[in-house]
Amino acid sequence: MTEAGNSDQDFELKLLLSAVQGKYGYQFGSYARASLMRRVRRHMQTSGVQHISDLIPLFLHDESAFAAFVKDMSVVVTEMFRNPEFFKSLRESIVPILKTYPFIKVWHAGCASGQEAYSMAILLDEEGLLDRCQIYATDFNDQALRHAKTGIYPESEMALYEENYRKAGGKRELSDYCHRGYDSIKFNGRLADHITFANHNLVTDGVFGEMNLILCRNVLIYFNQELQDRVLQLLFDSLCSRGVLCIGKRENILFSSIGDQLEVADRDQRIYRKCI
Ligand SMILES: C[S@@+](CC[C@H](N)C(=O)[O-])C[C@H]1O[C@@H](n2cnc3c(N)ncnc32)[C@H](O)[C@@H]1O
Repeated sequence: MTEAGNSDQDFELKLLLSAVQGKYGYQFGSYARASLMRRVRRHMQTSGVQHISDLIPLFLHDESAFAAFVKDMSVVVTEMFRNPEFFKSLRESIVPILKTYPFIKVWHAGCASGQEAYSMAILLDEEGLLDRCQIYATDFNDQALRHAKTGIYPESEMALYEENYRKAGGKRELSDYCHRGYDSIKFNGRLADHITFANHNLVTDGVFGEMNLILCRNVLIYFNQELQDRVLQLLFDSLCSRGVLCIGKRENILFSSIGDQLEVADRDQRIYRKCI
């Protein structure tokens, strides 16, 4: 790509993002640049268009075409008990604090297809807390949310999920929480009864209640630093006094304006607690 070609692309991308923001309110302009461009290019291929600007009339006049773009902009990679050592630490260092509360509200921001929320429900159940918990699991990708609500995942993932569950300090067998059939596993409805799946856009929507525990893992990495800071402030404002915030292993709060208002509960696992 020549320099002129690059700057044309930048210009077209700006126009596209401005049209998207004007019509749908989504601010993809603050997503990390390289991954944004990669995803737009991939979307151009699947839509069969040659120029970035060709996407503008498509999105303006066809909401389903835009919904497909949102889906492509969202990386939904996830798994049960992802980074099991994180869940182990949560069980050992945070659950004893949660046990002192009469009612517990948990928010999974950027829940993708839901495995993180089901993992949390299992962990809380094993610690005798599920019946006094409400788990909120949100994402801006409606297709991922529809999948999450089913609680159905490929059986081929089960070996990995079981290994993660064991490493996370699971107290039973993961198969106790799901049934198998048609090459799939389906998590028990009793877990889903405690989870509310809803659409929430971290970029455009506001504070989300007063949570005791918030997990926003592997979401911030897709945002530029300015947006990370804004979203971290939103997460912080959604925590109750002494609430707990968990982010992903490759993410950090040190640069952000909330960095000095959180104390470290587990530095390696990125678990923090509101100072006041
Ligand atoms: C890689 S997944 C992380 C899933 C889970 N938290 C985990 O760690 O396994 C990232 C999720 O963030 C969601 N996401 C990206 N931008 C978002 C936004 N502005 N608002 C809400 N969710 C967003 C994506 O749709 C995707 O489902």
